Amino acid sequence: MPLGEQAPPGESSRKARGSARRKRVLSGMRPTGRLHIGHYFGALQNWVKLQDDPQYECFYFVADWHALTSDYADTSAIAQNTVEIATDFLASGLDPAKSVLFQQSQVPEHAELHLLLSMVTPLGWLERVPTYKEAMENIKDKDLHTYGFLGYPVLQTGDIVMYGEPRTELVVPVGEDQVSHVELTREIVRRFNEFYGFEVKDELFSENNAAVLEKVICILPSLGTQGAEGKNLEAVRNDRGLIRKYVAEMGLKNFFKELGKDKRFFRSVSVLREPDVMLTATPRIPGTDGRKMSKSYGNAITLSESDEDIRAKTKVMMTDPARKRRTDPGNPDVCPVFDWHKLFSSKETQEWSAQGCRTAGIGCIECKAAMADNLIRWIEPIRARRQELEAHPQRVWEILDDGSAKARRTAKRTMRRVREAVFNWDRARKSAADSAAATKPPAGGLAMKARPQGN
Ligand code: TRP
Ligand code: SF4
Repeated sequence: MPLGEQAPPGESSRKARGSARRKRVLSGMRPTGRLHIGHYFGALQNWVKLQDDPQYECFYFVADWHALTSDYADTSAIAQNTVEIATDFLASGLDPAKSVLFQQSQVPEHAELHLLLSMVTPLGWLERVPTYKEAMENIKDKDLHTYGFLGYPVLQTGDIVMYGEPRTELVVPVGEDQVSHVELTREIVRRFNEFYGFEVKDELFSENNAAVLEKVICILPSLGTQGAEGKNLEAVRNDRGLIRKYVAEMGLKNFFKELGKDKRFFRSVSVLREPDVMLTATPRIPGTDGRKMSKSYGNAITLSESDEDIRAKTKVMMTDPARKRRTDPGNPDVCPVFDWHKLFSSKETQEWSAQGCRTAGIGCIECKAAMADNLIRWIEPIRARRQELEAHPQRVWEILDDGSAKARRTAKRTMRRVREAVFNWDRARKSAADSAAATKPPAGGLAMKARPQGN
């Protein structure tokens, strides 16, 4: 099989069972501490659903390098947070037998791909990322004036496309706030492919096709300068890389459009696969104070919260601010407690709450207590699995190590394809071998076989 068409691990056995090629799913989270129910409903619940759907092959990872992009000054918590988040993944139902669960820094290929992608990424694209601009304006307690922070989306692009295969769909389940990052990923991938997935066939330079070559020169804005055609023809014949460079400048699509059927003199392959965003409808899960749930606001319920803490935190939860007295009717549609009922309570209880609220038939204290009971019932199995794993952290590490080794097999395959596309090492080795064969060393002499590159 040629490079880029290799089957992912396990593919042959799946083929034998007659199922189609699965779509790849890739997503990650930064290790920022224990996860809360906002993370569960915002992402994890969906990750678990995808893992259990046979059309998908899922890769989920702890983005420990990403934690450095904003917190390089204090790395003391990253290792602990990595186990914490992996424990939360497992407690929430992610299963290492179904998904590849790994740690980014254990797959150093991510750093290499990041480097190669960084070479083609225009600075302006990064400076325009909305979350970048916002963070620079709003976050004052951290130093974000670093190369690493600006390059965050490039690292993320590497994370994603590492697990793409040329002929397999690649999807990234992310929240609204990450969509612009995935959009940027698509643009970086397109640009990368235009440089390194584009080849000019030798026929274009044969005498019979001189007219086509002239047409190519006219189309390319940087070459088609009036009166300079003859000189440019010479230049292009002497440096075939020029066409590639200028095509990348004008965009492959535009170039092919203008070229019409003469595009047969070119070959274009997707070295890297463009990912698609998978936006999942996530329920609204405000924090206890009605703002977005976040550890730093102190308004979150973690997946390991105790019964006592759940009761204490929900007791003081914000409600419909217009309902000041027990006798005032309220509006559940503007009440965070009711948002939580929708996640944890039965339809009957939801009705009881909504109806009782609107008619002042129930008080907020009762309403909250009923919700807390259901939240506790919901969290119990997750918390129990979590406690079990907490008692055996070495199991969590083993799962991460194992998953990282698996992820790395896929990553190595991608990097072989990428390196070949950028540098053509194999071709260089082959031509060295050919010339060695032509000079025929004496028998038993220095004859060496060209080794195909790869590790
Ligand atoms: N940016 C994500 C976060 O802040 C983590 C992340 C890194 C990621 N690389 C990714 C998410 C690739 C999806 C795909 O949690
Ligand atoms: Fe919210 Fe329930 Fe109070 Fe209504 S009764 S305001 S839904 S807590």
